[in-house]
Amino acid sequence: VDLESILNIDEIEEVATKNIPHKGWAYYYSASDDLTSKAFNGAVYRQILLRPRVFIDCVACDTSTSFLGHNVKLPIYVSPAAMARLAHQDGEWGIAQACEKFGAMQIISQNASMTPEQIIADAKPGQVFGWQLYVQNERAKSEAILARMNKLDPIKFICLTLDAPVPGKREHDERSKNIGSNLSVRAAVQEDQSVSKTSPEAKTPKLAGVGQSLFWGTAADLTWRSTLPWLAKHTNKPIVLKGIQTHEDAYLASCYAPQVKAIILSNHGGRALDTAPPAVHTLLEIRKYCPEVLDRIEVWVDGGIKRGTDIVKALCLGARGVGVGRAALFGLGAGGKEGVERVLEILKAETETCMRLLGVERVDQLGMQYINTRAVERD
Ligand code: FNR
Repeated sequence: VDLESILNIDEIEEVATKNIPHKGWAYYYSASDDLTSKAFNGAVYRQILLRPRVFIDCVACDTSTSFLGHNVKLPIYVSPAAMARLAHQDGEWGIAQACEKFGAMQIISQNASMTPEQIIADAKPGQVFGWQLYVQNERAKSEAILARMNKLDPIKFICLTLDAPVPGKREHDERSKNIGSNLSVRAAVQEDQSVSKTSPEAKTPKLAGVGQSLFWGTAADLTWRSTLPWLAKHTNKPIVLKGIQTHEDAYLASCYAPQVKAIILSNHGGRALDTAPPAVHTLLEIRKYCPEVLDRIEVWVDGGIKRGTDIVKALCLGARGVGVGRAALFGLGAGGKEGVERVLEILKAETETCMRLLGVERVDQLGMQYINTRAVERD
């Protein structure tokens, strides 16, 4: 396929769907129960309208910003998403290459199909990575991983995922469990560590979907009181909490600043609790009940991002940046590293077009004055 002929993220997904082995596709596409949150994540952006200003010089347009003080060229980052090699051999390394080209940040999943060392092997100075952690029942394993991360300079923060202590019920994934079973679903970070016969991995049920296999051994007993001090003790990097879905938890997280430096409003791409709110709703709640959170910590969002206008709307609502999960994986499926580059190229160009048509030159000028959220706030 000529990647230049692909014009939007939906077309990327169409091409990838033809390329990726069925089991990998089902794992990426899947979301919980009736896929309600997955669908709403994207649909909610359609309900927000833009308020363009005219008669403004819009020749210049600058999409650069920063995350936790690290400069990036795009307010778009690649979300941690497991098993990129189910889409293409380039895997997470390919995503890193594409991110480097566009000056975008990448958060590496604990369940990545390549080791962190492989993924950052060709990182350029200034390239920004985060590492996403699923705390393991056997805490010593997580401590060993954190010790390993402490030595990796390009990893600028630890992103602790909180919205999926147990996997959601993803029927596409479960149904495909017997198909293409030659695909490996072991997380690479644990491969070079000795796995005893009695370890949770060794007991992974053979008939589970990819998601369930990967979740085996993940701790479900995390708490604000016990887990944050433990994590702070074992990492020398800032902490980002991923999967915040209410203003109450956003506020709580902000009370742990400066240890917690950012939160990610996310429902895990609709893959954890179905009918959990899209990030836009949580952002609006925060603005209404505890707007000070936006001053205390950075707020990032993900879920359903497919258009530059989605990105601009999230920034107008107060998000520092937006994450893309499936778009990057499907980009890999559409054309390896070049496919991910095409995804970022499309999203960057659409974001610039949107900013220009709004009459905005820099991302820090974006604010509530550029959107109309009435249709989302009918309560
Ligand atoms: C994910 N996501 C995810 N999140 C996380 O913290 N750790 C992980 O290992 C994974 N793995 C994963 C695999 C796949 C296939 C998908 C689609 C998603 C969730 C991810 O970080 C992000 O929250 C969503 O993907 C964002 O939604 P979109 O962009 O996919 O709509």
